[in-house]
Amino acid sequence: MIKTLNVGLGERSYPIHIGSGILPLLGQSLKAVSFPRRVAVLTNPTVGHLYAAQVLEGLRAADFAATDILIPDGEEYKTLETLQGVFDALIAQGFDRGCGILALGGGVVGDLAGFAAAVYLRGVPFAQVPTTLLAQVDSSVGGKTGVNHRLGKNLIGAFYQPRLVHIDVDTLTTLPEREFRAGLAEVVKYGVIRDADFFAWLEQQGCELLVLKPEALIKAVGISCQIKADIVEVDEKEGGLRAILNYGHTLGHAVELLSGYGSVRHGEAVAMGMVAAAALAADLGLAGDKDRRRIEDLLRALHLPVRLPRHAPEAYLEALMRDKKVKEGSLNLILNRGIGACEVRKVADPARTLLPVLERFQEDLPA
Ligand code: NAD
Ligand code: GLY
Repeated sequence: MIKTLNVGLGERSYPIHIGSGILPLLGQSLKAVSFPRRVAVLTNPTVGHLYAAQVLEGLRAADFAATDILIPDGEEYKTLETLQGVFDALIAQGFDRGCGILALGGGVVGDLAGFAAAVYLRGVPFAQVPTTLLAQVDSSVGGKTGVNHRLGKNLIGAFYQPRLVHIDVDTLTTLPEREFRAGLAEVVKYGVIRDADFFAWLEQQGCELLVLKPEALIKAVGISCQIKADIVEVDEKEGGLRAILNYGHTLGHAVELLSGYGSVRHGEAVAMGMVAAAALAADLGLAGDKDRRRIEDLLRALHLPVRLPRHAPEAYLEALMRDKKVKEGSLNLILNRGIGACEVRKVADPARTLLPVLERFQEDLPA
């Protein structure tokens, strides 16, 4: 079974194919979008070891001239320096304007490969073959590409849409369990901000995701991608609506910053941030405390952390005020309205509003 969605962006529209065991159909999918016949497959040694041979063989069998280019594995390599090495390889191997770049890997490979495609020879076609749950439900869709700067994450980049997203959920069987669970936080996020029925389905069938049941994975990845596509179609460059995808992320980013990047997975920090956001929504009367409890129970059932690591509340506030969403001392927070809807709320006095939540939702304290 293959589920196909469309991201409708006029002449930059593209399909997302989702299925189980569909990696061998990649060549066919690329042909259908008239992808260039010369393809640089960007991957890392971990994913390359598992899937590059199969992908390269499949592409060659479908008459593509495909070569792999490896970048080191890890967020710390999502840099301009690594990008320079990719350009060196592309130029040395004579990749010209008639080539395309394909990302095979998680969000790090996808973000860097997309940015390489956006700027190499002023732009060459790009395709995404995401292999982490986070990349399948979030980073491969929507065209945010880029690299980190030593002073901050994702500071250098471009909006550049792929021509194709090809998702084989079977690749998740090799993903470390912790990475898989971290991706589930983003799946829960879609239910909270946009789809109460999906949230209820996750409450009932989430256990099928934990055992990697393909039908359940295809459904969850499909609904997540559809929600993201709907939002990106309305607001491609984050002028407004797209910001709701950052639900749970403002506090999540503060957790990552205070804990040291790498010690907490992004999705884990988002899970903690969602519970705190839901508590704040309840304090402000946008949702009931029973909604916060449902969100927390679901995240717990998916083995995600639901309490903020202990740091001084002032440290949290300082980290929050450095967030991109702070304007003139006010913090724009994404808050859930019940479950299945959300809104952006301007918080004029972050210290007064947030401190009670920070105090109640730190580790080891009763909720
Ligand atoms: P990642 O790319 O670092 O992958 C996590 C780990 O899993 C890596 O070690 C990777 O090699 C390994 N891996 C990947 N697929 C595997 C598989 N199938 N089997 C075994 N191992 C596998 O991390 P991620 O969580 O996928 O992505 C995080 C990145 O995504 C961050 O840089 C973040 O900024 C970015 N991001 C981008 C967007 C966007 O819209 N562009 C959205 C969210 C996150
Ligand atoms: N991951 C948030 C976005 O794509 O906008």
